[in-house]
Amino acid sequence: MKIYTPPPDKSITIRALLLGAAAIGRTVVRNPLRSRDTEAAMSCLKKLGVKTKVFKDRIEISGAGPAGFGPGPFRLDAGESGTLARLLAGLLAGSGARAVITGRGTLRRRPMEPLAAALRAAGADVRSARGRLPLKVNPVRPRGGTLKLSTASAQIKSALLLAGLGAAAPLSFGESAPSRDHTERLLGRMGARLRVSGRRSTVYPGALKGRTINIPGDLSSAAFFIAAALLSGLALKIKGVGLNPGRLGFVRTLRKMGARITVAQRIYAPEPAGDITVRPSALRAARVPARDIPSMIDEAPLLALLAARARGATVIRGAEELRKKESDRVQSTLALLASLGAKASYRNGTLTIPGGQEFKPLKTVETFKDHRVAMAAAAASVVCPGLKIKNPGCVDKSYPGFFRDFRRTFAGGR
Ligand code: S3P
Repeated sequence: MKIYTPPPDKSITIRALLLGAAAIGRTVVRNPLRSRDTEAAMSCLKKLGVKTKVFKDRIEISGAGPAGFGPGPFRLDAGESGTLARLLAGLLAGSGARAVITGRGTLRRRPMEPLAAALRAAGADVRSARGRLPLKVNPVRPRGGTLKLSTASAQIKSALLLAGLGAAAPLSFGESAPSRDHTERLLGRMGARLRVSGRRSTVYPGALKGRTINIPGDLSSAAFFIAAALLSGLALKIKGVGLNPGRLGFVRTLRKMGARITVAQRIYAPEPAGDITVRPSALRAARVPARDIPSMIDEAPLLALLAARARGATVIRGAEELRKKESDRVQSTLALLASLGAKASYRNGTLTIPGGQEFKPLKTVETFKDHRVAMAAAAASVVCPGLKIKNPGCVDKSYPGFFRDFRRTFAGGR
């Protein structure tokens, strides 16, 4: 059995850095991810005047408290990180600072108005530029209150939670479907008053206390190794990976498809983490309901890839959210499958993938500069030797060592 250890989690690293900056006292982020997105977070902290010390195994942050950033104005570049841009907007909206949040590349095309509208509904003054970046945050204290979210986005939910810390009154909202709760777990650990009941969260205004935060491995990065192991019939043990229930939709669905995957959890507060073992398996088709999409938002393209080789036709509903990522991941998934010689279709939010298809690579795979499309193509390469991947450097967004780790595990890969 091969052993593989994934890189640290991107979502949790970015959250830990931002919350550490807003907390009072010292936060130690152990085993942080170092990638293009987390470096963008570090440079935003620097612009906000937050002191950080970087060590080989940890980052220490001296937080100055919620109003510690000062009045600004700040101009913050979120790079290509949607999580960073949106969480920063929430954090700053509750901090009394004036700021403009910009971004680069694919992030400039991604929607920002649903986030700005949610923050305005909480009484903050955040404006998008015709629905996109830059985001303008004006120093208006959120009033709090009760609102309803129409989308299930962990990023929008997190931005509201952070804005609520600096609001005049408690802020309460409901999600349309459950999404990852990393922010809630970190807030709890750092002393925030938070009540979560079902899909309704209430955050009470107050300060955070600096703490030590351990970052587990990134399940969304490990997912490419799970997919490649299933495609190639390799037995693989993935060590120290995050097992947040809001991220496990891919694993749960694969098990329903007949994948022999076992999960051994041990506590790694504030997040569950452990080992995942994948054994050679014959997969059958799945029917994925829309409510499962938030828990596999970044892995749905990989599921489509595996479904093309499973027995029977797979149907994935509620796929329209995939269109708002680093690329339009409905189009890029269809393009990836097409360049492997496989058929799939998309209509009214539903992806349908006929099963039992052989992959015959036709040409170089287009990645649309989307890190997850490049890594999905690499996963496919275990059954398509010689496959060429365009712009492979885009993996640096979340996983700079990806091709090295992939070659080491699968002996081939690019
Ligand atoms: C993320 C949430 C997801 C996901 C993204 C990271 C996060 O976005 O696609 O890669 O860190 O909260 P949405 O929750 O907006 O779908």
